[in-house]
Amino acid sequence: MSHDPTAAPAIDDVRVSLGARSYTVRVGRGLIARAGAEIAPLLRRNRVCVITEATVAELQLDGLRTGLAEGGVAMEALILPAGETTKSWRYLEQAVEWLIAQKVERGDVVVALGGGVIGDLVGFAASILRRGVRFVQIPTSLLAQVDSSVGGKTGINSPLGKNLIGAFHQPSLVLADIDALDTLPARDFLAGYGEVVKYGLLGDAAFFDWLDANAPAMAAGDKALRQEAVRHSVRMKADIVERDETEQGDRALLNLGHTFGHALEAATGYSDRLLHGEGVAIGCLLAFDLSARLGLCSQEAPERVAEHLARMGMKRTLSDIEGDLPGRDGLIALMGQDKKVQDGTLRFILARAIGDSFVTADVPRAALAELLDEALAG
Ligand SMILES: NC(=O)c1ccc[n+]([C@@H]2O[C@H](COP(=O)([O-])OP(=O)(O)OC[C@H]3O[C@@H](n4cnc5c(N)ncnc54)[C@H](O)[C@@H]3O)[C@@H](O)[C@H]2O)c1
Repeated sequence: MSHDPTAAPAIDDVRVSLGARSYTVRVGRGLIARAGAEIAPLLRRNRVCVITEATVAELQLDGLRTGLAEGGVAMEALILPAGETTKSWRYLEQAVEWLIAQKVERGDVVVALGGGVIGDLVGFAASILRRGVRFVQIPTSLLAQVDSSVGGKTGINSPLGKNLIGAFHQPSLVLADIDALDTLPARDFLAGYGEVVKYGLLGDAAFFDWLDANAPAMAAGDKALRQEAVRHSVRMKADIVERDETEQGDRALLNLGHTFGHALEAATGYSDRLLHGEGVAIGCLLAFDLSARLGLCSQEAPERVAEHLARMGMKRTLSDIEGDLPGRDGLIALMGQDKKVQDGTLRFILARAIGDSFVTADVPRAALAELLDEALAG
């Protein structure tokens, strides 16, 4: 058989096996353009309600409408404002009341079209509407494709903290369309990449090596590499979620870099000063630095991580964050809000090597203080 270089590359299917809550994450090009054929098999009647946000609506909603119509599926759409503040009670209420006004029934399917903000909000709305309706994720940011659309964590922010209100509610299908990433701003792409590199660092040294060789071309736009990076990341997340759906153990490894990252996000007011994935990348490097200080891994490991982030043009140290940060004690206090805190004790994800991480509560305060003092001194 001759190879046709113009043929569309195959779609990769990643199965998330969770018994009755199992589903497939489809990764590939052109999935939005044929969303109707993809989603129709799930439907009892040929109509879906789509919730999205303004930026993504401008770029993707017409394509989705056409793609659904080609599969014989009609849609209604609600367009919310873009941005993290949409993950709030106010817009949750608006979304749920709109779905009720649209007469969404128990057997219907709600579609989330957008980044992690929309996926988390719409997933939560679906989980509480009529005590739970099915939903389909169409993630349009890299972060949402590799992380937030998989695993069933849904929710909104409280004025007192991020992601404090929510539910586990697995989607029925995820369509990760690599073409949607074409319009993603470079900064958001690299922030999403922070979560991709996290997978290599936490559990797969060979994947880190692959990224070290291929990520610059991927960031520059190579779609086959993007598809492979998303597929591999989703497979890794699915494996961990299958072992520990509700985060009683192993799922905490996915929080590599997040104890530091969340504290930095809080310190910068969840603003544009630091995107979530940027905080994760800085946090991963701090976690490797701390691991080396504690003699858990070689000094070479954090050096390799730092070199990689530098080559990708990513933020990697506290001095890369514009504006003032709280001092060492302020940052440690913010870490105390982390969801991994148990009985008042901070828990960290540390590493024995690139690709070999573990959860521990055994971090002497002096080592943490020394790490942060040096990081803050730049
Ligand atoms: N549920 C989970 O397991 C999980 C995991 C990680 C992060 N999250 C959550 O995800 C959120 C962050 O996700 P995010 O980074 O996708 O944020 P986001 O949804 O705000 O998207 C980031 C930016 O990219 C824009 N955008 C999205 N797709 C685009 C496209 N195709 N073209 C152009 N612009 C596009 C958005 O308008 C926004 O400005 C946070 O709220 C975080 O808490 C959830």
